[in-house]
Amino acid sequence: MTTEQLAGNASGIARAGEILRAGGLVAIPTETVYGLAANALDSDAVRRIYAAKDRPADNPLIVHITEIIQWLPLVESLPEEALRLAEAFWPGPLTVILKKSGLVPEITSGGLDTVAVRCPSHPMARAVIEAAGVPLAAPSANLSGRPSPTSFSDTLSHLDGRVEAVLDGGDCAVGVESTVVSLAGDCPRLLRPGGVTAEQLRQVLGRLEIDSAVTGMLAPGARAASPGMKYKHYAPKAEVTVVDGSPEEFAAWINGRYGHKSTETAYAKKETAGVFALCFEETAPLVDVPAVTCGPRYHGARQAQALFAALHQLDSLGARLVYAQRPVPRGVGLAVYNRLLRAAAFREEQVPGPMVIGLVGPSGAGKSAFGAELSRLGFGVLDCDRFTRSAQVYDGACLAELQAAFGEDVAAAGVLDRQLLAARAFGDQESRARLEAITLPRIVRAVRAETERLLAEGRPVVLDAPTLFEAGLDSMCRRVVAVTAPEPVRLARVLRRDGLTEAQALQRLRAQPPLEFYQARADLLVDTAEGGDLARLARRAARELKGGVG
Ligand code: TXA
Ligand code: MG
Repeated sequence: MTTEQLAGNASGIARAGEILRAGGLVAIPTETVYGLAANALDSDAVRRIYAAKDRPADNPLIVHITEIIQWLPLVESLPEEALRLAEAFWPGPLTVILKKSGLVPEITSGGLDTVAVRCPSHPMARAVIEAAGVPLAAPSANLSGRPSPTSFSDTLSHLDGRVEAVLDGGDCAVGVESTVVSLAGDCPRLLRPGGVTAEQLRQVLGRLEIDSAVTGMLAPGARAASPGMKYKHYAPKAEVTVVDGSPEEFAAWINGRYGHKSTETAYAKKETAGVFALCFEETAPLVDVPAVTCGPRYHGARQAQALFAALHQLDSLGARLVYAQRPVPRGVGLAVYNRLLRAAAFREEQVPGPMVIGLVGPSGAGKSAFGAELSRLGFGVLDCDRFTRSAQVYDGACLAELQAAFGEDVAAAGVLDRQLLAARAFGDQESRARLEAITLPRIVRAVRAETERLLAEGRPVVLDAPTLFEAGLDSMCRRVVAVTAPEPVRLARVLRRDGLTEAQALQRLRAQPPLEFYQARADLLVDTAEGGDLARLARRAARELKGGVG
């Protein structure tokens, strides 16, 4: 079959509508990934989707509509929770599963008594649905088991010659498939994470169960809530392994085996051809094997956008073995982790040895008190602030540099005059930057040395460091825990503790990063206002740090 390549304009959209009305297949762009569309109410057309993709017949399809009103005839009933979700997230990357009506053919719902429906926001997807005049069944436009396409050319690489047409909509904005939530059971259940996050769903629904298949492998013989989750998925041709380690551990792990300085056999035996790192942008300079990057470490949305294109790229580079860095499994990052685990057929390795955990949080959140609880549980907690005053940092060479920058008298007779230094260095931005350029690398070196010492004792180390990210210490951390509390709670604590006026205290709090800063970076968020029992919160955190998802 010759596949028509349709331009993303009015005539391309009209042609797509025509083909779909006649029972044909058209791959179309959506905001998530490209979808392979057919009339959802026409069994014969839908059957051809399964054939074109080599998709198992028990894996149901998502039905795409443009207005809530089109949902009504497809389902038995529309519960209040469904309407609330639609109100909050449609049009957009959310699919909702409900008991289906008799209108939906068996084949569309893979033989289940439920139907998955989604209302996309992509203007071209919407225009095609309107042009077709019927709801469209559309799975991702990949061959079954392979990574979903997020660009026109990747879509063609899967479906050229197998479908009537592909419509060019450029690159997809979200990059991973929609979030799938089922309202067909007693409690709303997240079956597939995506661009709408679990946190957002919980905010609207008040309750949400996360299906164990989201980050776990289905036990042999167990029934999948979502049939699609039981299959190996999103897999490039290479063997992928997710590596759970800090950026530095990840780099050392892969360099030790396959890097050009490796003394291990793999390098010596020249078995490094086709070995790739799939890592975040900041990590790429640390690895000395070829790397494909997948967004910044703390930007789940950009990772999602880049992930499938990266997997396709690895295929075209002829990758044989891929070691992928584990993303922070929160927010959109949970979707990235979910797809990577499937691309890896659940091969995940943890870098051996005790881990380093970053502990951050704004003033008054209770970070130090929480650190003390972790210390009671056997973690080696390093108060990094104390190194800003330690003799280890202010050695002779350091004092000489400070004298050159701020005047001989800041360290007359080899004794640091802290007050004088503070008066000279904290006056303006530029002086402060000069001070940091001298002290920060030394502080970081001291923290690293102390960390190594504690790790050698075999204990996990917690770096209690208010400026963990600014100092670059986060590249040592396998996990980051953020301790937070609502602003009024923090304000009250700071007032009680530091003897400031309310205006001063507020100014201090407002100068600190907002909650979103920590949400994007932390594997685990601990809200110390939530009940307040720090010992209990610390025990829970310790449990979750041993591999769980927060
Ligand atoms: O973003 C998306 O959702 C894309 C674009 C094209 O809209 N579509 C997509 O479809 O990802 P697909 O077929 O690749 O994934 C649909 C997933 C599968 O895991 C399937 O098993 C599940 O949703 N699913 C569909 N209907 C279901 C149902 N009634 N009950 C449980 N799971 C269902
Ligand atoms: Mg799919």
